[in-house]
Amino acid sequence: MMKLKALLGSALLVLVPMAATASPQSDLEAFQAYFHKKFPTVSMAEFGNGTYAIDPSSRESWEAIEEFPPYEPMIEEGENLWNTPFANGKTYADCFPDGPSQRVNYPRWDAAGKRVVTMELAINECREANGEKPLKYKKGELASLAAYMAHQSRGQTIDIKVPEGDADAMAAYEDGKNFYYSRRGQLNLSCSHCHVMYSGSHLRAEMLSPALGHTSGWPVYRAKWGELGTLHRRFGGCNEQVRAKAFDAQSPEYRNLEYFLSFMGNGVEYNGPSSRR
Ligand code: HEC
Repeated sequence: MMKLKALLGSALLVLVPMAATASPQSDLEAFQAYFHKKFPTVSMAEFGNGTYAIDPSSRESWEAIEEFPPYEPMIEEGENLWNTPFANGKTYADCFPDGPSQRVNYPRWDAAGKRVVTMELAINECREANGEKPLKYKKGELASLAAYMAHQSRGQTIDIKVPEGDADAMAAYEDGKNFYYSRRGQLNLSCSHCHVMYSGSHLRAEMLSPALGHTSGWPVYRAKWGELGTLHRRFGGCNEQVRAKAFDAQSPEYRNLEYFLSFMGNGVEYNGPSSRR
C-alpha cells in the first residue's frame, strides 16, 4: 500500500466541483464534460471498456481475451436458468414479460416502494414471488443469469431517470452521490479520488479507469476472481482497498451508489458481460 499512499497521500485533493444544490442533470453534464476533456479521444462507447479505453498497453491482451470470452459458458448457464421453470411451473419470463433484455430498465426508481431497484434485486424478488429461495448476490447463478440478460441487452444505452419531482428519489440520488465523494477507510479516500481525479494514473500495475461508463459492462469475469462477479462485488472490493468496511451487496447504500453512478453514465452503451484482469 506504500505506493498508493505515495500516489495519493501528499497531493492536495480537489474533487470535481459539484454544488450541493445542483440538479442531477447539471451534475451529469459537469461529470461527463470532465471526462471528455480529460480523455478527448475516447468515445462514449469506448468509456464502457474501463481501463482498456485509455490504456493501450493492456488493451491488446484484453482484446485477445474477448475473442474467446471466458464468460461464454456462464451466459449459457444463465440462459438455461432463465428457461428452467420454478417449482410452481412459472419462469422468469412471467416476471419480465418483455424477455431477458432487461438491462436498460435497471436500476430504476420504485416510487411505491421508495427505493432503487437493481436488476439483481428484481431477479431475486421474482424468485421469491414464485416461492424460490433468493440467490447470492455477488457471484454464481445470479451472476450467470445477469450475464445472459446483459448479453441479450447489448447495444442498449444507459438511460437512467431521476424524477426530480420525487423527494425520495432525489434523496436516494443524493445519498449515492455523497457515497461517491465521501472519504472512507484508513486511507481516507473516496471513489472519486481514484476514478475521477486520478483516472488515467497508475496504481501499482493498473491504470485507474474513468468513472464514466463504470456500470456498463457487468457482470464481469475477472481473472483475479477466476469467475464472474457483480458490480456490487466490485464496490465491496474497492471499499476494502482503502481498508473501509464493505457494505452488503444490494444494501440500500450500494443500490443508491449504483443509481448515482449509472445516471452519470447515461449515454454509454451496455456491453456486459465483459472481462477484466
Ligand atoms: C485506492 C483507489 C480506489 C478507490 C478509492 C476506489 N477504487 Fe474502484 N478500482 C480501483 C482499481 C485499481 C480498479 C481496477 C482498475 C480499474 O478498472 O480502474 C478499480 C475498479 C473499479 C471498477 C471496475 C471498472 C471496470 O471497468 O472494470 C468499478 C466499477 C469501481 N472501481 C468502482 C469504485 C467505487 C464505486 C468506489 C468507491 C466505493 C471505488 N471504486 C473506489 C481503485 C480504486
